Amino acid sequence: MISTTPGLDRGALVEWYRRNRERSANLFALIDEHAFLQRPIPLRHPFVFYEGHLPAFSFLTLNERALGEAPLDPALERLFERGIDPGSVDVARAHQRSDWPARSEIERFGRACDERVVAALEGARLVDPSVPRLVRGQSAYNILEHEQMHHETLTYIIHQLDYAHKGRISQEHYDHTPPDNPMRQVAAGIAHLGADPDAIVFGWDNEFDAVALDVPAFSMSRFPVTNDDWLRFVNAGGPVPAFWVERDGEFFLRGVFEELPLPRSWPVYVSHDQAAAYAAWTGMRLPSEAEFHRAAYGTPDGRDRIYPWGDAAPNAMHGNFDFERFDPEPVDAHPAGASAWEIEDLVGNGWEWTSTVFGPFPGFEPMASYPQYSADFFDGRHYVMKGASPVTARELIRPSFRNWFYSDYPYMYAKFRCVA
Ligand SMILES: [Fe+2]
Repeated sequence: MISTTPGLDRGALVEWYRRNRERSANLFALIDEHAFLQRPIPLRHPFVFYEGHLPAFSFLTLNERALGEAPLDPALERLFERGIDPGSVDVARAHQRSDWPARSEIERFGRACDERVVAALEGARLVDPSVPRLVRGQSAYNILEHEQMHHETLTYIIHQLDYAHKGRISQEHYDHTPPDNPMRQVAAGIAHLGADPDAIVFGWDNEFDAVALDVPAFSMSRFPVTNDDWLRFVNAGGPVPAFWVERDGEFFLRGVFEELPLPRSWPVYVSHDQAAAYAAWTGMRLPSEAEFHRAAYGTPDGRDRIYPWGDAAPNAMHGNFDFERFDPEPVDAHPAGASAWEIEDLVGNGWEWTSTVFGPFPGFEPMASYPQYSADFFDGRHYVMKGASPVTARELIRPSFRNWFYSDYPYMYAKFRCVA
């Protein structure tokens, strides 16, 4: 599959880190100064936490814990060490505090962390097979992908912030009559989930080991479920998605920076429970993680592709991801991203819900550089999502990458499709 890099390209890692920091700064710059203590999603920390968390996590993970360097500021490092994913607003209240440091202090701390992290990426021993946190350079990749995942989290929290309290990035929106959505046949075959540690440069612990699963034939819709489809469900008594706003009997979409007349051809973003309810209403069901793999990466001749469209590196032609835009596009906007079964929009334009409860693959071991990353969520209450959203970085787009959320969490950029 993806080739192994024997040595690390330090220049590329430093460039990646700086690009991440710049994107973080641009996202924080969208938030009005006085809104930094707000928590538009009560199940998450206020914005101020994330501004400290990103550099603190990188410094703690790479410099302090992997390389054994001395701390910079133990109190701030502890304060900003970890995010939250409580199961309820009540539990979230226990994490509330009012004594966050001044923003200028957090920014100073962040710059100090950045300096040390960049120095380590430039000169420290990042790969050491005898140090668990440095096996295959995992701590370096860990901090780089961690920040990119937070770009997505940060964006969907900013999304819920009042328009009056944030800046605006203007982008053109496209909508048209939704396309016909026929079912496509996917032949029985083997789904390859996870990865062999030797086959990819970096993966999170939940991506290992590789596992092959027999999947019977099934059919899947060519496109994900659209807002237009969902409107029919609402008219039949279905729930209204969290991203919709109702006014005078009409529905609008709450975009990241502006409200829009409901774009009929865009995928609908809903929770896992809502998606499952829709599937049941149509007499179908959500795909399993293995079925998603078959639909996205399998081919009629049995050879797996790296991406739905083939082995070419992801680019803007293949799908809506990597911050090309903030909001979705029509579900048929990227025919070049179609899989071997002519199923479209599988990677990009919103993660896709699966019916699979998030759990370990055989051979799972918590990763040394971030042992809680996955293990804390093997609770039977989180479901696997695959693919990518408009604000998923291209580095995270690999077949083995798995995302997961509570089944009733409604703020994710997650779409779905039905299988039969
Ligand atoms: Fe984090």
